[in-house]
Amino acid sequence: MTSMETIILVYLFGVISLTLFNAASSVECPQFCSCNSTTSEAKCQNKYYDGIPAFPNYITSLTYTGMNLPKVTRRTFEKLIDLDLQVLILRHNRIENITANALSKLIHLRHLDLSGNGRMNFTQLAACLENIKSPNITILHLNSFGWNEEQPNIYKAISRYKIQVLGMSQNNFKSLNMSRLGQYVPNLTSLNVAYNDIENIIPGQLKKLEIWRIHHNYVDVNNALFNSSGTCNFPSLKILNLTSNFVNYFENRFSCLEKLEVLVLDRNPVKKILKDTFVDLPSLQVLHLNHLGDRLYNIEAFPFRSKTLKELSFSRNHFAFMKSARYLYFNSTQIFRGIPNLEAIDLSENYFDLSDGILPEMISHLTNLTRITIKSCKFQTIPFGIFSKMKRLEVLNLTKNHIISWNGTEVFGSISSLKTLRLNFNYINVFNDTSFPESLMANLTSIDLAGNPFFCSCKNLWFRKWIHFWRIKRPSIFKGYPANYLCINPPELHNTELKNYFPSDDECYPEKMNATLQSFIVLSLIGIFGVILVSLIYKGRWHIRYCIYLQRVKQRGYISLNSGDSFLYSGFVVYSDEDRHWVFSKFLKIVEEENDQTLCIHHRDFEVGKLIVDNIADCIAQSKKIILVLSRTMMTSDWCLFETRLAQRKFLNDDTGSLIIIMLENIQKKDMPHSLRELVDLTTYITWSEEPEIQDRFWTNVLKSIKGGNE
Ligand SMILES: *[C@@H]1O[C@H](CO)[C@@H](O)[C@H](O)[C@H]1NC(C)=O
Ligand SMILES: *[C@@H]1O[C@H](CO)[C@@H](O)[C@H](O)[C@H]1NC(C)=O
Ligand SMILES: *[C@@H]1O[C@H](CO)[C@@H](O)[C@H](O)[C@H]1NC(C)=O
Ligand SMILES: *[C@@H]1O[C@H](CO)[C@@H](O)[C@H](O)[C@H]1NC(C)=O
Ligand SMILES: *[C@@H]1O[C@H](CO)[C@@H](O)[C@H](O)[C@H]1NC(C)=O
Ligand SMILES: *[C@@H]1O[C@H](CO)[C@@H](O)[C@H](O)[C@H]1NC(C)=O
Ligand SMILES: *[C@@H]1O[C@H](CO)[C@@H](O)[C@H](O)[C@H]1NC(C)=O
Ligand SMILES: *[C@@H]1O[C@H](CO)[C@@H](O)[C@H](O)[C@H]1NC(C)=O
Ligand SMILES: *[C@@H]1O[C@H](CO)[C@@H](O)[C@H](O)[C@H]1NC(C)=O
Ligand SMILES: *[C@@H]1O[C@H](CO)[C@@H](O)[C@H](O)[C@H]1NC(C)=O
Ligand SMILES: *[C@@H]1O[C@H](CO)[C@@H](O)[C@H](O)[C@H]1NC(C)=O
Ligand SMILES: *[C@@H]1O[C@H](CO)[C@@H](O)[C@H](O)[C@H]1NC(C)=O
Repeated sequence: MTSMETIILVYLFGVISLTLFNAASSVECPQFCSCNSTTSEAKCQNKYYDGIPAFPNYITSLTYTGMNLPKVTRRTFEKLIDLDLQVLILRHNRIENITANALSKLIHLRHLDLSGNGRMNFTQLAACLENIKSPNITILHLNSFGWNEEQPNIYKAISRYKIQVLGMSQNNFKSLNMSRLGQYVPNLTSLNVAYNDIENIIPGQLKKLEIWRIHHNYVDVNNALFNSSGTCNFPSLKILNLTSNFVNYFENRFSCLEKLEVLVLDRNPVKKILKDTFVDLPSLQVLHLNHLGDRLYNIEAFPFRSKTLKELSFSRNHFAFMKSARYLYFNSTQIFRGIPNLEAIDLSENYFDLSDGILPEMISHLTNLTRITIKSCKFQTIPFGIFSKMKRLEVLNLTKNHIISWNGTEVFGSISSLKTLRLNFNYINVFNDTSFPESLMANLTSIDLAGNPFFCSCKNLWFRKWIHFWRIKRPSIFKGYPANYLCINPPELHNTELKNYFPSDDECYPEKMNATLQSFIVLSLIGIFGVILVSLIYKGRWHIRYCIYLQRVKQRGYISLNSGDSFLYSGFVVYSDEDRHWVFSKFLKIVEEENDQTLCIHHRDFEVGKLIVDNIADCIAQSKKIILVLSRTMMTSDWCLFETRLAQRKFLNDDTGSLIIIMLENIQKKDMPHSLRELVDLTTYITWSEEPEIQDRFWTNVLKSIKGGNE
């Protein structure tokens, strides 16, 4: 083994043991803290602990707030010096004394926040800040110290670093010396001096300042602030937040803020907005003038003229944009002129009278708008003649008005660009099939109708179906559905979800149902009547036939049996089918073949294709006599009885001689039908017998009756 190899082995051993040692000594997150290895953050809050414990080595950001650290020295941070600690937040830790070298070992610091340690001696603090050894320190927060004035020592202390973000809010400053700040921290990009008592600002230059939060002070800006003797103080300023100050109005226009994009002037007691106030801000995109209080009485023409403005918020001003507002001045046709790139406008919480046509005069020409918010303006309808012209409109927010109804065709026309429609917390009870035109739905992905007093009645059947339909197509289209879509009516459904009310067509259109029911009843009545009629007809078919027969006879003229030789047949034989054999083999043989008489026989002589009734009628008319062949089966045959009735009639009309009754078997009179009994009573009948001697007499009697004239 060469010495070289030995060295390599020893080296490898060293590396391995070092790695093992490190792994063994890796620190857990302290119990009272939470550590996140993804974000490399540790947070410890509101616990009693002396000093600061060790943290896992991945921690780069420590938030240590609400703890008790009355005395902070270099030893306080001893356990952190091996970390790559970049962010140290020590807010509200009751720090009283801090040594000058306390932070000197935290060489990676970028962001230091000592806010809320009001008891700290600022001479000590300055000394400490002066000794930060990190070259990267850029963010410093010294908020909520309760200082009454700026601390030049501290500015001086930090002037050695490249501080970019400085926070000194909630410090009761009465004045702010921008000149001094410019001298010590010239490269500041963000300054927060909000929530002080600043009335007076000594102008100065901060060439790199981009964000200036000076809200909640007593500042009334004038142009000298931005422009000291011909040079622009804040040439990089992009965001200026002046919320809650004492800005009255701007006699000179805002100028010298070439880069200003966002200007917030909310909650200032502005009295007038003069013509072209913002016209010299060549980068302005967002202008907020909300909650200006009741002093505003004059808005001159073209107040917001700007080539670049995209978003204008003029809400919660309770300004009466009404013809009837006599002590206010504004020019409805000019107020929003000269803003060709305006995309979004918010006019919430002002006064409008939709009947005086002022609102359309104000905004209907803003056809490039994509977002409109007009909340809480007591609108009872959605004004028409405005939105239908805005072909790029994507968001329409009409929350918390008093909207009850509108005409969908007039309001929305054929716009199809809308993506978001908010009509939540209005007074809408009932929606109609015209409320949302088909075109409106083309690009709509969000509609909020929550908090309306829905009627859970059939009037909303269409709406209920419509929700169902669109939820299938776009499941998340209805915001707040179903939890915030509640019924107020009828009382028994009060506060139930609209979702649970889904009536059927039948429930809702009882008229339609009634119609169906009625026609059903009528049809079944007709049916029942028909059945009854048919059965009646069936029952009385013989009577009917009889009547038809009489009718025929009448039509044809009655042919009397008396008219002598004109008869075609000497007799019409009425017999039942069962007796056919007897009729053909015996009766016809004797009467026709042997005695040369012609008889009319149902089975033989009826003309095919003629109505049976007609056949019978003809036969009866053309026969001299009617011969009834009585048997038990004959009495049960409807046809035979029918024929018998015809015979009976003829018999009664003419005389008894025209009827011959032959009894094929012995039938008791009580077994006979009533009509037949009558005939049998009136006529002598000839009885058939199987005995040959009696048969001879029978035939003699029969032939005599057939051939014989009418006695
Ligand atoms: C860590 O932070 C990430 C990002 O903020 C977060 O998603 C994750 O839930 C956090 N983990 C823990 C344990 O809190
Ligand atoms: C802070 O220092 C002052 C004197 O410099 C001393 O009176 C005071 O007791 C110290 N406070 C703490 C908490 O150490
Ligand atoms: C300072 O920041 C730079 C860039 O982020 C980094 O490379 C460097 O290591 C940091 N210096 C220290 C001492 O952390
Ligand atoms: C702050 O501390 C310095 C030095 O420690 C001391 O001279 C000074 O009196 C203290 N100031 C206050 C207000 O406590
Ligand atoms: C400010 O920035 C400029 C250029 O970026 C640099 O030269 C100068 O040293 C910086 N000053 C301070 C105090 O950081
Ligand atoms: C301006 O400051 C107010 C008050 O903190 C805040 O609500 C608002 O969001 C800020 N506006 C901008 C645009 O930063
Ligand atoms: C609004 O301005 C236009 C043009 O400047 C003017 O014609 C009109 O009379 C003004 N309207 C009112 C009500 O002052
Ligand atoms: C709409 O925007 C275009 C440029 O995108 C502009 O030319 C036009 O004048 C604008 N229309 C209105 C009414 O402002
Ligand atoms: C109006 O509604 C839109 C879309 O939901 C929302 O982004 C916006 O914040 C609302 N406007 C106001 C002033 O609440
Ligand atoms: C729908 O029509 C009814 C009856 O005409 C009306 O009461 C209701 O307000 C209308 N709804 C809407 C949203 O226009
Ligand atoms: C809605 O307006 C259109 C066009 O003005 C009109 O034809 C229609 O009758 C109106 N509908 C209702 C319900 O008033
Ligand atoms: C709306 O949607 C239709 C298709 O449904 C599309 O052709 C049209 O460009 C969209 N309009 C806008 C303004 O997005």
